[in-house]
This record gives sequence, structure tokens and C-alpha cells, in this order.
Amino acid sequence: MAVQISKHVKYVGKIDWELRKFHGDQMSTDRGSSYNSYLVQSEKTALIDSVWKPYIGEFLNNLKNETNPGNIDYVIANHAEPDHSGVYPHLLAAHPDLPVYCSANGAKSLKGYYHKDWNFKIVKTGDKLSLGGGLELTFIEAPMMHWPDTLMCHLSGDDILFSNDVFGQHLASEFLFAEMVNKYELDYENMKYYANIIWPFAKKAKAKLEELRSMKLPIQMIAPAHGVIWREGLEELIAKYEAWSDEYAEDKITVLYDTMYESTRKMAEAIASGIRKQSPSTEVKLFHCGKTNQSDVITEVFRSKGLMIGSPAYNNGVLNSIGALMEELKGISPAGKKAGVFTSYGWSPRSLKQLTGMAEESGMEVFGKGLKVQWNPDEEAIKECIEFGEDFAASF
Ligand code: FEO
Repeated sequence: MAVQISKHVKYVGKIDWELRKFHGDQMSTDRGSSYNSYLVQSEKTALIDSVWKPYIGEFLNNLKNETNPGNIDYVIANHAEPDHSGVYPHLLAAHPDLPVYCSANGAKSLKGYYHKDWNFKIVKTGDKLSLGGGLELTFIEAPMMHWPDTLMCHLSGDDILFSNDVFGQHLASEFLFAEMVNKYELDYENMKYYANIIWPFAKKAKAKLEELRSMKLPIQMIAPAHGVIWREGLEELIAKYEAWSDEYAEDKITVLYDTMYESTRKMAEAIASGIRKQSPSTEVKLFHCGKTNQSDVITEVFRSKGLMIGSPAYNNGVLNSIGALMEELKGISPAGKKAGVFTSYGWSPRSLKQLTGMAEESGMEVFGKGLKVQWNPDEEAIKECIEFGEDFAASF
């Protein structure tokens, strides 16, 4: 069902209430998501983005209720990722001459996915496309927000920024607009989306936000590719993204661990009590990484100034959940975070060296030499853990 969201724009996307995992099984989407697509109708008609494969038939049927697909003049492919481009092979099979406006990398990615040489019209930042009736689209390249091809566009007249992944959230809502949904849910999903999708490219995001401001485009509405549409508090939203893109951290330390026979858990809890003792105003949270979805853990990591990361020694390495976490942190390179590491072991403490190496590889500042405890921590070892937590908290 289409929803008129402004004078010339209808929402023609798909709200996916069922989605629970995204990027394969990598990211949890506990509140569903949506694949946002917009139909701009003036003297010319433009379709901005589309939906993911399972919903192609539904999308095309709904689109036919709004316009004859043969009347579409332009496809605007802001992003080649298949959850937004899924409809193109079907639409363009029926209308092969339809121009597809995208970035140069967009054309490469779309060709790579669909093996078709469509009628690509390559655009760069500042290029404009007139839709007649005084309306025009201005394109803004935004490479790595979230793929190299990412493009945003601005519609004059209705003053809408189609921001693609930027300002998106995995949040299904029939309300469609941000100011109408539960604020707690929105704030969490907004931050989780940033932490898991945009954070690895924060430096580029920072520069792009500066560029966007310098373009001085009038913006009354921000319409992302996922989640609800923003039409209130836009300045606050942009300022939030600017802060997040600048080595964001709250007064918060997160203790991340996995455990086999509770030794590492006891260490984690003792370290947390040391942090609390040293710095009562610092928020401390503990997560068993084997029991917590990694994308929620990453959201907590994003908010934290410091991390304590612990695993028991396991064979010649560390437990899977901690290994996976460290791999993801390596991909993110969390600038400005400080990490301490700890391990419990039976006969070989090499896991401490491994954890240290993994933390260094991710680019985090590593605190001290780490802490190792053999077998089950006794009273003396617990005292050492508390002191380790105190020293960590005092190091900020
Ligand atoms: Fe669903 Fe990178 O987009």
C-alpha cells in the first residue's frame, strides 16, 4: 500500500515485520525492518530504490496501483545492495531502456550482481536531474556509507533528503514517521544501525556530513532506505550523527567475556566491581558474548570509552564468541577506545597474549599487560581482578 508522504512523493516500500537477521545471520533485527522505496511524481516520474527479493512480486503489484511502470521515466539506484535493488532485473526486463541513475561504483556493483548492462546514467555529487514542475533531484555521492556505491539525493520543492543507509534503522512500523514511534525503540535502533553499519567508516561519515552541511540544501524530511522517515528534530538527528562520527564515547565501560566453568565469569564480575569502586559514576555493563547477539554487543561497545575483554584459554586459542568479537572489532577499528584483556587458564596462559594481539590488531589502545588467573580464582586472585578493574577505571 502506497502512502503519500509529501506533495510529490509516495512511499512504495515494504515493511518487513518478519526479519530477525540481516547481512546473512550477522546482525540481529529484533524489531523487523523495511525496504524503503519512493515514487516521485511530477511532470516526470522517478522511482527511488526498490525492495529485497522475497517481496518483488508484491512490490510490482503495488506499484501498478500507483502508476503504470511503463510511465516511470527514471530509476534512481541510490544503492546496489540487493535489499534495495532486487526489483530492477524484473522492472528493466520489461522496460530495458529505462535510465538507471547511479554512481560509477553503483553501475559496477549492479553489473556485478545482475550481469546486465542496463541504461546506466552515472552521476556525481552536485549533478541534477529535472523532474519538471520546478522539481529537481540533486545527487550526493556518499562512498562507504555504507558501500562504495552509496548515493543520496535531494528533492527540491518537497525538500526531502533521500539519505539511503545514513539515518536508517532496522525498525518495522506501520506509523512510517519517526516522531510517531516509541522513542526508546527508535533511539536504540538508530544507534544500533549506526554502530553496526556506519561506524566502520566513521571518518568518511564525518567528512560527508560536513559536506552535506556546506551544500545548504533545504531539508524538511529525511527519508532513509530502512526504517522510519524523519520529519521532526532533523538538526538534532544530524548533530547526533556528527557526534557519533567523532570518536564517540560515553562514561561507560563494558566487560565482555565468555566462560566455560565460571572462572572467567568470576574474573569479569570482580573486574566490574573494581571499576565501580574506583569510578561510581561510570556505567558498567557485563555481557556473556556466547549468550548475547554480537550486533547488540557492538552497540554497547560503540557507546563505551573502555572495554574489558576476557576468555578462558581454549585448546590453543580463545572461545569462539570472543574470537568472533575480536574479528569484528578488527573490521571496525574502533578509534579512541581503550581495552584491557583477561584470561583464566589451566596449563597455558597463551590466550592472554592472543587476546592482547587481537586487541592491538583492532587499533585499540591496550591497557597494561592484561591479567591471567590459573584455574578457579581464589580470594587472592579475586583481589587482583578488583585491582585490575580499579586501575583500568583510573586510567581514563
Ligand atoms: Fe540495506 Fe547498505 O543497505
